[in-house]
Amino acid sequence: MSAQAPIRRITAPQIRARKGGAPIVSLTSYHAHTAKIVDKYADFILVGDSLGMVMHGMDSTLGVPLDLMIMHGKAVVRGTERALVVVDMPFGTYEESPHMAFRNAAKIMKETACGAVKLEGGARMAETIRFLSERGIPVMAHIGLTPQSVNTMGGFKVQGRDEAAWTTHIDDAKAVAQAGAFALVVEGVVEELANRITAAVEIPTIGIGASKDCDGQILVLEDMLGLNPRVPKFVKVYGDLGPAIERAVAAYAEEVKTRAFPGEDQVYR
Ligand code: KIV
Repeated sequence: MSAQAPIRRITAPQIRARKGGAPIVSLTSYHAHTAKIVDKYADFILVGDSLGMVMHGMDSTLGVPLDLMIMHGKAVVRGTERALVVVDMPFGTYEESPHMAFRNAAKIMKETACGAVKLEGGARMAETIRFLSERGIPVMAHIGLTPQSVNTMGGFKVQGRDEAAWTTHIDDAKAVAQAGAFALVVEGVVEELANRITAAVEIPTIGIGASKDCDGQILVLEDMLGLNPRVPKFVKVYGDLGPAIERAVAAYAEEVKTRAFPGEDQVYR
C-alpha cells in the first residue's frame, strides 16, 4: 500500500520564478465555494480588499477591517488546496510603520494560513516590504491605480496618461522589487507604461487594466462573472451570471407563490 503524497500549494518563490515565463493566472475570491472552482485554474488567488465593495456594498475599500479580511481569507484557504492564497492588508493596517505592518501581516498569516500578503504603494512602502520579507512574510506589491489612495488620487483614475509621471511609476516598481516583493500588481496604467514597468523589474508583474504583456493577469471574479453592478470598462465579462441568478430566483418565487414548490417526497439529484 502506498501513501499518497499531500498536494503542496504553489509558493511565493515559485510565482517569483515565473518572471518572463508562462503567464500567471490569478483571480480574486472571497468564499470557499468559488475559491474551490478557481483553485483548479489559478496560480494564485487574491482575497482582495475589493470585497468591501463587491461583497459588502461599500463605496471604497477604505472601510474594510482587518478581521473581515481574515474571515474571508480563512474561507478561501479552507476551500482550496493548490493555489497560493494572498490576502490583502486593508487600509490603515500597515502604512504607519514596518512594525505595525509586521504585527498585522503576521496576524493575517497565522489566522488564515495564507501564503502571502499584498499591500499598496511603491517607493514609500519599500522599507516595510523589506522588513516583512526579511522576517518570513512574502509580500506582493501593488502600484499604479491604488484604490486605497482614492481620495489623494481624486478618484479611480487610469494612471500614466501624462508621460511625465512614468518615471515615478517605474521607480516605484524598481523600489518594491529591490525591497524583496515577490510579485507586483500593476493596476489601471496605460499599456506602454505597464510594458516598461514589466521590462524594468525582475519580479513578475500582474496586470489589471494594464497590458496583455504583463507576466500575469488578475481580475475580480465577480466582475468577470457579471455579478458586480459597477464593472470597470476594461473587464471582459466571461460569464453573465446576473441574469441567470435572476431567472432562478424568479422561478423559485413563482413556485412558492403558486404552491408548486416541491415537497419532501421530491428528489432532484
Ligand atoms: O482588492 C483587489 O481585488 C485587488 C485587485 C483588484 C488586484 O487589489
